[in-house]
Amino acid sequence: MIRLNYDNVLATIDFEKYRSKLEKINEGINQKKGAGNDYLGWADWPLHYDKKEFNLIKETALMIRETFDTLVVTGIGGSYLGARAAIEAINGLLPQKGPEIIFLGHTFSPTLTAQTLEYLKTKNFAINVISKSGTTTETSIAFRLLKQLLIEKVGEANANKAIFATTDAKTGALRKLATQNGYTTFTLPSDIGGRYSVLTAVGLLPLAVAGIDIDDLMAGALKARSESVDNLDHDLYKYAVIRDTLYRQNYKSELYVVYEPQYAMFNEWLKQLYGESEGKEKKGLFPTSVTFSTDLHSLGQFIQDGSPILFETTLFVENPNQDVVIPSEKENLDELNYLAGKNLALVNKQAFKGTLAAHVEDGKVPNLVFEIATLDAHTLGYMFYFFMRSCAVSAYLLDINPFNQPGVEVYKKNMFALLGKPSRK
Ligand code: PA5
Repeated sequence: MIRLNYDNVLATIDFEKYRSKLEKINEGINQKKGAGNDYLGWADWPLHYDKKEFNLIKETALMIRETFDTLVVTGIGGSYLGARAAIEAINGLLPQKGPEIIFLGHTFSPTLTAQTLEYLKTKNFAINVISKSGTTTETSIAFRLLKQLLIEKVGEANANKAIFATTDAKTGALRKLATQNGYTTFTLPSDIGGRYSVLTAVGLLPLAVAGIDIDDLMAGALKARSESVDNLDHDLYKYAVIRDTLYRQNYKSELYVVYEPQYAMFNEWLKQLYGESEGKEKKGLFPTSVTFSTDLHSLGQFIQDGSPILFETTLFVENPNQDVVIPSEKENLDELNYLAGKNLALVNKQAFKGTLAAHVEDGKVPNLVFEIATLDAHTLGYMFYFFMRSCAVSAYLLDINPFNQPGVEVYKKNMFALLGKPSRK
């Protein structure tokens, strides 16, 4: 499905040294013990997910596809990134057949919010509001604005039928609002945190509305789980060990690399997953990302020659969804005829190979490569599970609880004080 190539890691990796630690960590994940064990629901989710709700998601998605021309997915962080990453990875960046999916609630941007509201005035739209806590300020503000626009357009009763809420089963302001207004609701299980939730209704409803086969996605995730649950030789453990080894050799940043702009949001999903899971107690690799070849014309210089603080992890997809052949020209004034008849996938692949050699051989930058044949729904489900489990293992290798995010609260506290938010009674 995906293969980890670590030929160019430029370090000796002592997998055996890690074995007993990995055994303990894995036992903890399997038996739901250890730090943050209340949030290990994702580990068995591909096996035990709620099939009744899954069918309701499929039915609802079909109804949305048949009824509306736009779905506004409203969420932030783990309630946003996975769905967007998957939709762009599978469908690409330009509009496709079927309803358009747009995103709001992941920013306070006045301009984006105003422009989105203006754009939606002429659209027949539905809203999927996603928030586990139900109190996230970015999402709540966007939802209030979208809801009011929808009510203005179609009236309250119809608006309530066009709002789909994904939230905690029992608690939070969004659950209360949904119950009161009779929205169709989907549940984010209490033992699955935001950044581990893409395979729940959080990701599944937007994906299904985008026409992505969520049965295939879950089958891919199940495959990753079955292969890895009791097999410490699986690539996902190797990946965790290699990262940890490089971290301890003073590489403090991991640079995720893709060669298709449509995978850039997958990098964003990875950055949140790793950044929020590992970056605590003054520890952790700083996850960052680039899209090549675009960023070879900007950050490429630093990667090749700058401070030796990072290693690269490339997700290289062999077969793109679509391809283009470079045409021949009689005059050849642009001197491109040497490429005539070749497709862009080949050019992209040679760019990847040339870059890898440059960064490894000349730049001495350690490189890991995930070799991916085709990025379809099945592979994507596999990858989501692979990285979630590997990330939890990585955090445990640092003695960090992977499932909390205490540092995120500090800015909120300051912002609320500045905004004069009343304290709760
Ligand atoms: O991973 C996490 O838990 C966070 O990034 C949350 O997903 C994010 O803050 C959004 O929270 P909520 O779903 O409660 O609105």
